[in-house]
Amino acid sequence: MAHVALVTGGTRGIGAAISIALQKAGYAVAATYGGNDEAAGKFKDEHGIAVYKWDVSDFAACKEGVAKVEADLGPVDVLVNNAGITRDGVLHRMEPEAWRTVIATNLDSLFNMTRNVIDGMRARGYGRVISISSINGQKGQFGQSNYSAAKAGVFGFTKAVAQENAAKGITVNAIAPGYIATEMVRAVPEEVLNTKILPLIPVGRLGEPEEIARCVVFLAAEEAGFITGSTLTANGGQYLA
Ligand code: CAA
Repeated sequence: MAHVALVTGGTRGIGAAISIALQKAGYAVAATYGGNDEAAGKFKDEHGIAVYKWDVSDFAACKEGVAKVEADLGPVDVLVNNAGITRDGVLHRMEPEAWRTVIATNLDSLFNMTRNVIDGMRARGYGRVISISSINGQKGQFGQSNYSAAKAGVFGFTKAVAQENAAKGITVNAIAPGYIATEMVRAVPEEVLNTKILPLIPVGRLGEPEEIARCVVFLAAEEAGFITGSTLTANGGQYLA
């Protein structure tokens, strides 16, 4: 039986590439999304991947959503915490809402999702939890105190939960992508991207979503059982953590 993989934010951007790569690697994939019905419908039709809509910042919605996925596909063996948003702005002009919504979607979601799959993984003695952090959680980023804080939190969560579940056959790891060619990065003002970001990437280009997806496939494998509590960095050499 194919392992079931659940990818949050799995219908667009890096998440879509992850869902597709896991499907190609033989997993039964469920991709969640938060709001863009059109993109999700198109993704489902094009790739034949099951899509589910819920808000990952809402614990009860995650509980209900995981139950639905498990009823449809079977127990979740691989959880990819990928859903994330930005509300960029300097701290001295940031409104509480921009802080709260980024922390809730990018960090609370790790608790909300992992808490709802971990009992099953522990009972079955197998699991993979992979969370997408960011270079900006490692180095901090001008205009992203909210996002950098949330993404830095991913590392602490990963290391703690890895220790708690190592004896149960569950690995818990983080991936720290650099600047990847997605809508999120294209939303950065062009001048900022060209003068403040691209020149700092030694490889000389943005990354591709597929380059992050292959990191996920690597960590999700049964053969990756000795890798836990770690961070896999893929940033074109921009920041050497
Ligand atoms: N480092 C140093 N200075 C910077 C800077 C940076 N990275 N970015 C902007 N500045 C400077 C500008 O040059 C400008 O300086 P002057 O006033 O001397 O001209 C000043 O800060 C204000 O810049 P803006 O006019 O752009 O100010 P703003 O308030 O309109 O916007 C901002 C500020 C929201 C931070 C905007 O610059 C921005 O969006 N920056 C990009 C932030 C970023 O990298 N986001 C990553 C999104 S992608 C992502 O998050 C995925 C991932 O994981 C990597």
